Amino acid sequence: MEALEAIMTRRSPRAWLNKPVPPEMVLKLLAAAMQAPSAGDGQPWHFVVIDDREMLDLASRFYPGAAPARSAPLAILACADLGEDRFGGFWEQDCAAAVENMLLAAHAMGLGALWTGVYPLTERVHAFRKLLKMPPNVEVLAFVMVGYPDMIPPPEDRFRKDRIHHNRW
Ligand SMILES: Cc1cc2nc3c(=O)[nH]c(=O)nc-3n(C[C@H](O)[C@H](O)[C@H](O)COP(=O)(O)O)c2cc1C
Repeated sequence: MEALEAIMTRRSPRAWLNKPVPPEMVLKLLAAAMQAPSAGDGQPWHFVVIDDREMLDLASRFYPGAAPARSAPLAILACADLGEDRFGGFWEQDCAAAVENMLLAAHAMGLGALWTGVYPLTERVHAFRKLLKMPPNVEVLAFVMVGYPDMIPPPEDRFRKDRIHHNRW
């Protein structure tokens, strides 16, 4: 799929087919994520691949948006090691760019990916830290469910001329 087509047609699926995601596709998603731009090329991201059924079920109960993890074959937790946030404070933007790359790559490969927000909600961050035995210097940006979608919403045109400003507000 061409890049612009992937951008314009990507949507968030919330229901999945009962079909595993092949490990080589998972690696492609992670490679796409790690190809993202980052402040000073700091690449502070870490990714926890979760395909353990029990852990996905536990995570699905953390907050309403995580519920689709109950039927998803896989989820990827996008994290950042704050010790690697070289310029201090850019890790969120770095990891968000990585997550968007992952979403687009998933869509281009015939998969679907659902971004759900973790940071800055401390109770969500703590829930994942506890579940995955993560050290306190690691932040959690997003819990991204991945799978073959059962239903994908149709593309939506969000172009708004009133959001564009030229030379002044
Ligand atoms: C930071 C962030 C947090 C999000 N959190 C949730 C969430 O908790 N639950 C959910 O169902 N979707 C979540 N989403 C997905 C959005 O609801 C979705 O992207 C938006 O409605 C636009 O739809 P689309 O992705 O299908 O284009 C989140 C997206 C972002 C970028």
